[in-house]
Amino acid sequence: MSVNIRLGVNVDHVATLRNARGGPHPDPLTVAKACAAAGADGITIHLREDRRHIRDADAVAICGWAGVPVNFEMAATDEMAGIACKLRPHGVCIVPERRTEITTEGGLDVVGQRATLAPVIARLNAAGIAVSLFIDPDPAQVRASAEVGAAVVELHTGAYANGKPGELQRLAAAAALAAEVGLECHAGHGLTFDNVAPIAALPEIRELNIGHFLMGEALLTGLPAAIHEMQRLMDAARKV
Ligand code: PXP
Repeated sequence: MSVNIRLGVNVDHVATLRNARGGPHPDPLTVAKACAAAGADGITIHLREDRRHIRDADAVAICGWAGVPVNFEMAATDEMAGIACKLRPHGVCIVPERRTEITTEGGLDVVGQRATLAPVIARLNAAGIAVSLFIDPDPAQVRASAEVGAAVVELHTGAYANGKPGELQRLAAAAALAAEVGLECHAGHGLTFDNVAPIAALPEIRELNIGHFLMGEALLTGLPAAIHEMQRLMDAARKV
């Protein structure tokens, strides 16, 4: 377990591998349990509208197990809000979703979609579920997230991971602003052993959600070794 920054492991890619053959193996719940046994602080799953990786039965099984907190990523739709209210994960992270995208490509436009987001967030909050919004590190999006009732923002680190100049500074400023307006701050997307340290070093960030790199690395070194090394790098960055 990390000292003061949590690692949530995204197991969607396990479902992608399973679905490639149509059978039950490898099972995302079994892998989630292995991640928790290796010290992961949480498990993230994204039930997409098209069910291209995680399926309803996976979400039921993983939320029912809940051996560590489950972060349930979803689009802001009535169907997904209904599923989340039934499954009662520890937290929901609302993400933008387009059927044609390979992965979640950009952050939510909270500023432009207040009217759609506010009722979904209110419904989840009423069910006792903390809501996170996955946003780009933009001050207007951070402020709007607080205004629509989110408890958490997850900052999209994809552009940083792709080497966009100035992005680390934008992330640092957005994390500081999130704390200032009373939001817990998380981050994720595209993080690897090579780029995680500067993000983990941002003091306001309480949690990183990492999937693709960890699953790829697990093929080479095993899941426990991949998780332990990521946590070691996160903790080391925190202590500097
Ligand atoms: N956080 C969110 C909200 C995501 O949508 C994803 C990708 O599914 C991640 C974190 C993890 O990204 P990656 O798989 O690149 O580590």
